[in-house]
Amino acid sequence: MGKTVLLKRFQEGAEERSWVTLPIDLDARFNYETELIALLTNSSVRKRETLSALVATRRRIGEVAGAVLRSVNLSVGDWTASLDPKFGEATVDLARPIVEVVETGIDAGKAGVLYAIDEAQFLKDDPESGEFTLSLLLSTFTQLQVARLPIALVLSGLPELDKVLGHTRPQTERLFRGLAIDTLDDAASTEALIGPLRGSKIAFDARVVELVLPEMAGYPHFIQVYGAELWAAAHNRGAKRVTQKLLGETLPAIRTRIRVDIYDFRMRQLSPSQRDLLIAASRLGPPPITVDQLSVSASPGEDPQAACDALVQLGVIVDRADRGEFTYTVPGFHDYLLNRADAWSSALPAARWDDWTLR
Ligand SMILES: Nc1ncnc2c1ncn2[C@@H]1O[C@H](COP(=O)(O)OP(=O)(O)O)[C@@H](O)[C@H]1O
Ligand SMILES: [Mg+2]
Repeated sequence: MGKTVLLKRFQEGAEERSWVTLPIDLDARFNYETELIALLTNSSVRKRETLSALVATRRRIGEVAGAVLRSVNLSVGDWTASLDPKFGEATVDLARPIVEVVETGIDAGKAGVLYAIDEAQFLKDDPESGEFTLSLLLSTFTQLQVARLPIALVLSGLPELDKVLGHTRPQTERLFRGLAIDTLDDAASTEALIGPLRGSKIAFDARVVELVLPEMAGYPHFIQVYGAELWAAAHNRGAKRVTQKLLGETLPAIRTRIRVDIYDFRMRQLSPSQRDLLIAASRLGPPPITVDQLSVSASPGEDPQAACDALVQLGVIVDRADRGEFTYTVPGFHDYLLNRADAWSSALPAARWDDWTLR
């Protein structure tokens, strides 16, 4: 957790350095070459429209530095001839809007263009369907960069992105600088919890921080719930300190909110058979879960590998070390599955409905 936050930091850093930034959010629909090209084209064209206004203003006030600043001689015509024909027209189609936005950006006095792509794990190469979305993107960007076009690409996504990049091109480790995000350590968790309170009228007792650190498990979303609920509890009572007593009184509300907002929320995104599979796997023991364990739990006719891949795509489980050993992305999910099985198992639809209405 923290991928989108980090991607935004890259955008802020780029903007501070006078770069144009294009944030792009992917989902499963865009794993087709034509869809990806359309998406990048639309957002490039829109960005170019806003930049054009800037160019016009610069011209009006006589600040036509664009032509002088230009370090690269850009022209779409030159490009089409020099692009690697491996992807044929697709590379040209993708390159054109990028070149155009860079051109306009430089005219507007910008230093370059950053494409910040979120949820990039949806990009894939699929020989079966003949869609090579990831290769197309990387190949186009590489060729434009080799030609010294000032463009940068930041991809943010679930850990499987790493694997996908490696499979696509053995040399991607030279193309990319990788940053892995893990859970927060105790110091970072403490800062995330109490930092926002600095300069406010409410403070945490040191003992309370000590007690909640293991509960929060370094998971940013948990830290936010603990921080928000404890702050609200102190505020409502007019208290200046979050004490151990206040923590004791607030814990049930915190646990309920985590259950409803985090665990139940995830379960609701799953299909009944995916829920049943997770519940069955949880009964075999604590994580890591292997595909073999999923095979035992899978219903007849269900492909355990495909089921596993789907759960990874949904961000429910993750194979951090790429060893075929999956853990839950949200801490405590195993206990939740054991305790709440009745509420979600398709074997007990009546109980699930009661639970839903009570929530
Ligand atoms: N390093 C961090 N410290 C404190 N809070 C964080 C940190 N990283 C993420 N968060 C919080 O966690 C939430 C989820 O982060 P986000 O970047 O949206 O996660 P995702 O990986 O799902 O994109 C955000 O509301 C953010 O404020
Ligand atoms: Mg995100």
